[in-house]
Amino acid sequence: MKIFKNRKNLIENISGLKKIAFVPTMGALHKGHINLINKAKKKTNKVLISIYINPKQFSSKRDFRKYPRKLNKDIETLKNLRIDYLYIPNYKDIFLYKPKNKIYLDNFSKILCGKFRPFHFKGVVNIVNRFLEIIKPKFLYLGMKDFQQLSLIQSHITQNKIKTKIIKCPTIREKNGIAISSRNVLLDKNQIQNAAKIYKFIKKNKKLIFYKILNKKRHEVVSELTQLGASKIEYIECVNLDKQNICKSPTAKFNVFVAYYIGKVRLIDNL
Ligand code: PAF
Repeated sequence: MKIFKNRKNLIENISGLKKIAFVPTMGALHKGHINLINKAKKKTNKVLISIYINPKQFSSKRDFRKYPRKLNKDIETLKNLRIDYLYIPNYKDIFLYKPKNKIYLDNFSKILCGKFRPFHFKGVVNIVNRFLEIIKPKFLYLGMKDFQQLSLIQSHITQNKIKTKIIKCPTIREKNGIAISSRNVLLDKNQIQNAAKIYKFIKKNKKLIFYKILNKKRHEVVSELTQLGASKIEYIECVNLDKQNICKSPTAKFNVFVAYYIGKVRLIDNL
């Protein structure tokens, strides 16, 4: 595996490659990432992973500081997976690059996480755009757990006519149902059990949640989730997956989107 810390070296090494499959990550690699990586490996024989904890997408310094960092272990994992290229930029390397594209954020960026985490998606699209301009991958692998992120990156790609195709990968879950996330390592056993109860409740009561929210009884859903162990519900909404706005019709294809805290750990899911 070739490891690059400098974008100019990286560009020199990959500029001739036509079919790069790119998996951007913030490290602390887990089964969700491994699933994206394995899918990428099946598609092409040139897979490039990035590990960069992007400060611009964190809304609080504490959250950024607490984000798990496991670089040595991640490098071992990627070597074992026989990855071709790993890019680990530092702040200067990635942010001194002058992008050509303008960051594009559509209206979907204003609800859910976009409402509660100012600048988060601007930070995400900013960094992903830099990677796309530098790496010029043919395929970009993103998980459906971060549906809003995926959708906003897609709009940016379309708006800027970037020649990269997003490959959407389904959410990978633990046996108990909870979506795999780097933040799960911050939960203790009891908190994991509570997260699993919250998952089960939402999965079982999708339609009920839809009607409660529609009929201005969201507080009842919030109270239920609090009883199951959530310390705070940031949002719970039903989103029309085709229109990417708040769902108003029970027959539309929708998911329940939730962001909540267990202790001080913020978790998101959609199902
Ligand atoms: O989903 C993530 O881990 C991050 O938002 C990403 C896409 C790597 C950008 O920093």
